[in-house]
Amino acid sequence: MAPRSTSAIPVASRIGGFVYAIRNIVTEARKVEAAGRTVRYLNIGDPITFGFKTPAHMIEAVDAAIRDGHNGYAPSVGIVAAREAVAADCERRGMPVSPDRVVITSGTSEGIELALTALAEAGDEVLVPVPTYPLYTAVLAKIGAKAVFYRTDPDRGWLPDIDHVRSLVSPRTRALVVIDPNNPTGATYSADVRRALVDLADRHAIPLLADEVYADLAFDGPVRALCADAPDAPVISFSSLSKAYLAPGWRAGWMAVGRDPRLDDVLGAVKKLADGRLCATGPMEYAIVAALTGDRSHQEAFRAALRDRAELTVARLNAIPGIAVVPPTAAFYVMPKVALPPGKTDADFVLALLRATGVLCVHGSGFNTRPEDGFFRIVFLASPADLSGIYDDLAAFTADYLR
Ligand SMILES: Cc1ncc(COP(=O)(O)O)c(C=O)c1O
Repeated sequence: MAPRSTSAIPVASRIGGFVYAIRNIVTEARKVEAAGRTVRYLNIGDPITFGFKTPAHMIEAVDAAIRDGHNGYAPSVGIVAAREAVAADCERRGMPVSPDRVVITSGTSEGIELALTALAEAGDEVLVPVPTYPLYTAVLAKIGAKAVFYRTDPDRGWLPDIDHVRSLVSPRTRALVVIDPNNPTGATYSADVRRALVDLADRHAIPLLADEVYADLAFDGPVRALCADAPDAPVISFSSLSKAYLAPGWRAGWMAVGRDPRLDDVLGAVKKLADGRLCATGPMEYAIVAALTGDRSHQEAFRAALRDRAELTVARLNAIPGIAVVPPTAAFYVMPKVALPPGKTDADFVLALLRATGVLCVHGSGFNTRPEDGFFRIVFLASPADLSGIYDDLAAFTADYLR
């Protein structure tokens, strides 16, 4: 008999490209904790960990669904009531779409994965912003497709550079990703830029993947659907209960495939893929109905809390010599830039900050900016008092680091 092999079992090579820095960096934080230092986690955009509460009527809807026995598999595209609620919400936001073009997903994340899987072959190209939310590059690595990065410009409020986007379109371009409002920059895009992106997608018949998970969290009030002025463009919109409805752990989201008939086959492909994973979380689909048809007063309070924290963050960061930040206009992220000493990278800075102060941020290169550019991302959901203490520590550390 052959001796028992002791060699490690290999993993697929595509895993090497599947990088999600927001969570990967936690490994370093755990080491710092093991050494006895308290870590202040500013890496993950989860409002619940900072004391914000899921609205009671949504919890009641899930509770009632479970008690009423809705514990079996849901339809793979989602329950009718949830799809109708999403379609009505899309219509209200300026994206007219029928419920049969809505698919309920396990968060925005699953919608993104379903759409990219339906659209891109190995070797195909997808236009992705820099900085980007890292799930896009991770999923593309898994599929074997290529992320082609378009610039967003910190000197213009992190707006996409439309000429650059245009110059990157090729016969292999299979989708254009737009994240507005944006993670990691906290930017909202101007009407001109939004229109130019949608027009480009329309003209070239490139599906525009509109990540609108922060649409209700712009400080000045909800942002309209990206395709509101061009409802016949090939736009697929994604959102969820995670951020604006304060229930990220429920994994309840949706995608709405625009009414453009050029998207019909893509819709069919997404539904086929959705069949294979059976359904999204069943009881939580009842909360989608409650969220989208019920009381939204929590959002106004949440937006006000975010605006206060954003103002504090910008004032405190811009007062630190060597750090500059573009004021965010939505969500709970900022992307400051530190003037790094020669030879240092953004990850060097973030890890040194973590080890010296216990403050955990994510380096910009985790969102595909250049390591030497010195960007890093802060999640500013902590209370103003906690943030103030954190910014004291950041200021003292930076003074020392740049000395
Ligand atoms: C831009 C963006 N898209 C998608 C997601 C994933 O959201 P969900 O919890 O709905 O999967 C996030 C989460 O941080 C995000 O920032």
